[in-house]
Amino acid sequence: MNTQTLKQQAGEYAAQFVKSGMVIGLGTGSTAIFATRRIAQRLHDRDLRDIIAIPTSRATQADARELGISLSTLERHARIDLTIDGADEVDRAFNLIKGGGGALLREKIVAQATERLVIVVDESKRSRQLGVNWAVPVEVFPFGWHSQARFLRDLGAGVALRNSGGDPFQTDQGNIILDCDFGPIADPAALDKTLKSRAGIAEHGLFIGMARDVIVAGADGIRHLRKS
Ligand code: A5P
Repeated sequence: MNTQTLKQQAGEYAAQFVKSGMVIGLGTGSTAIFATRRIAQRLHDRDLRDIIAIPTSRATQADARELGISLSTLERHARIDLTIDGADEVDRAFNLIKGGGGALLREKIVAQATERLVIVVDESKRSRQLGVNWAVPVEVFPFGWHSQARFLRDLGAGVALRNSGGDPFQTDQGNIILDCDFGPIADPAALDKTLKSRAGIAEHGLFIGMARDVIVAGADGIRHLRKS
């Protein structure tokens, strides 16, 4: 089974957790989009009613609009019942690396306002230790970003400025992303704190203790992992 099919299975499976009347967060990326499409289909079929959705990026906002899903903002709906989002790496404790699509800041703001964060992945995203397969995206303000790159290198990371079409990638906030390869991360919570304490870092892609459910689609079927 190819990865695209697995992503579709995971995304569509999670869409069943949405109930009428909920405020939901819509994740970003090639897995979360399948959940968004399925939710739109359920609304169209009248299997769901009165959903209000908060998108985690401009791209998801555009997709949801096109699909006819009613959108709102955190200013109007500060508490979100359920968010379905993807991830780049998931460890056994449900800690995540996110931000492969560059939406990590809005994704984290939405996740922290969410009662139940459901992560949808294909099996290649599971890992015994964060950092084994993926670099940690760090969103930094353009002002003085070289100094943040030096700080991150001093922490032991291989640092690469993310590019898009030959130019530095720009986030929805107009910031840039430094992809930081720390190798296997022994203590993700400690790294989270270190990164948070640095002025100039807007946010980073470590999501610690936020996910409640992980839906993993693999060759043997779909597994629903729940936080104990
Ligand atoms: C977006 O910034 C990311 O956090 C995505 O949710 C993550 O990169 C997973 O993306 P895919 O589902 O496209 O692999």
